[in-house]
Amino acid sequence: MRHALVRRLLAAAPAWLALPAWLALPAWLAALAWLAAPALAWLAAPALAGGSQPAMSAAAAAAPMAAAPWWQHAVIYEIYPRSFQDSDGDGVGDLNGITSRLDYLRELGVDAVWLAPVYPSPQVDFGYDISAYTAIDPQYGTLADLDRLVAEAGKRHIRVLMDMVLNHTSDQHRWFQESMRSRTNDKADWFVWNDGIPADTPGTTPFQQRFAHDGRVPPNNWESLFGGSAWEWVPARAQFYYHRFYRQQPDLNWNNPAVETAMFDVMRFWLDRGIAGFRLDAITSIFEDPGLRDEPQLEGVNDQGDPALDHMYTEGLATDALLRRMRTLVDSYPGNRVLIGETYVSSTAELDRLYGGAAKDELQLPMDMLAGLYVNAKLTAPYQRRYLEEAQAQLHGSQPLLVYDNHDNARSIDRFGDGVHDVAIAKLLAALLYTTRATALTYYGAEIGMRTAPPTRREDVKDPIGITGWPAQKGRDGERTPMQWTPGAQAGFSTNPHTWLPIPPSHREVNVETERADPDSLLNWTRRIIALRRGNAAIRDGAMRMLDRDDAHVLIYARTATASQEAVIVALNMSDQPRLVHFEVQSGIAGARPIAAGRPIAAGSARTLLSTDPSLRGEVALAGLKIAPYAVWIAAVIG
Ligand code: NOJ
Repeated sequence: MRHALVRRLLAAAPAWLALPAWLALPAWLAALAWLAAPALAWLAAPALAGGSQPAMSAAAAAAPMAAAPWWQHAVIYEIYPRSFQDSDGDGVGDLNGITSRLDYLRELGVDAVWLAPVYPSPQVDFGYDISAYTAIDPQYGTLADLDRLVAEAGKRHIRVLMDMVLNHTSDQHRWFQESMRSRTNDKADWFVWNDGIPADTPGTTPFQQRFAHDGRVPPNNWESLFGGSAWEWVPARAQFYYHRFYRQQPDLNWNNPAVETAMFDVMRFWLDRGIAGFRLDAITSIFEDPGLRDEPQLEGVNDQGDPALDHMYTEGLATDALLRRMRTLVDSYPGNRVLIGETYVSSTAELDRLYGGAAKDELQLPMDMLAGLYVNAKLTAPYQRRYLEEAQAQLHGSQPLLVYDNHDNARSIDRFGDGVHDVAIAKLLAALLYTTRATALTYYGAEIGMRTAPPTRREDVKDPIGITGWPAQKGRDGERTPMQWTPGAQAGFSTNPHTWLPIPPSHREVNVETERADPDSLLNWTRRIIALRRGNAAIRDGAMRMLDRDDAHVLIYARTATASQEAVIVALNMSDQPRLVHFEVQSGIAGARPIAAGRPIAAGSARTLLSTDPSLRGEVALAGLKIAPYAVWIAAVIG
């Protein structure tokens, strides 16, 4: 199975709050103090000013967060810094811009932001090519700006997670600059170098021959995910180096212990500054087959027009020991720092391995992209049920991290929308993300239904794969366009009419300001559902079980906490027709008393907590329950 990334790559003034005495510390130290404090912070959270909606109900705000680590309940919000908010009018988003929008995030109910890379970079891959790991790229701000962001986020009980690119550096990084100079320098063995093989070696493929230099060709058929050979020739060493991504992104040699030492020092640098954890880029690509075996060729070509390969020797090679050491590193810090993995794997079993299986001593949150980001992912009850159930049953009880959107894939509203019920479908996706038993990861703009807006002319494309792959491959610009804050000029993103990517015309209808004023908007739905999750013990923490395993159209599940807490039923109609909802009470899955002791449901009724179906208000009898097309119904079981 290939995931969408691989397919596409193959293929206010803020209401500054009164400064508590302890925050009169240097900003980063203050943030650290907060990180170390118990995650009960919502109780102390000040009310938010502004907005037509209250930040959350008093009950939600007062709901105690259990002893579980903060990330287990979290709503994590991915920010693509270039595109969130421009504070200095250069047309590119920046750290101070993000800081100025923290109240919005707090109002939405976000617990943590993940920042796509903000380190110095030539920006070939928009920051995923890092040229210095312990600094901030001037176009995004300074280290002091980052410290201020962390401190101001902390005041709003929002943690900051950084992207950490361990697999590769930029070719402009001083490590690589030194490494490429000779075969004998101090960093000679920090990257993956190879002599290649004589061009006349029998069995070499035409693909290898295309990359011949000085009578030698790459040692095997490995390909860059971004097109062409994964091997690049450097005359000064008369050798090739390996790059999984662009040739400007040489892979580090993680078999060299000095690399691990240097990178662990980098991670300590940020952890010491109060960063709550990392999203580990391309973590399953860290190691390659030491035997450099050719990868089996599949049918056809990839999106770059290169022969399609099974990446069995360049992806998913055992990282367990490394991840355990990394986990030990983050666990040595207070405040439940977290390791999130970019883990495109093909099965839940593989995902379990990245947690460390039963030992749970590797990543706390490898991303589960199976339900939402694979090329063949479908918004149907059977498809979603399968992966949601697998995540409950096959992860040794670890917390799933569901992902339906990110900066590498067309937005979910476009992938799953049917062109008729798109907003209803986006509301349903939000329900899936926030009411299943999982940590939720969302992407800026999903909460307002921003659309994918790919470039229409090759000369406008910024993502290099969109330039080389045009027109079949338009790159990833479409899902990275500026955040749509207002219907006005530059969507409120920037004062500069020349923003780094154009503002889609859809911003006139799809924007925060307009949606804030509309009680029925996707934004207000998303806020309500996050507030419900925060305030409802069953949704936040409870077990999850399917109430019907066979329904082809309606996904229906229960969330149950303790017997003293309300059980919740969620019904999601993943079809364009009204449907009757069945409860499989006799099946043995749920039993005759499916929800909680003393509360049989089939003949009972439930109290609607939230629904997009206006006919399902107040108390609803469960027998003969009918739900509108693409509707969501969330209810507390009365019994
Ligand atoms: C995954 C990132 O999400 C993507 O944007 C980037 O191009 C590659 N890794 C390489 O770092």
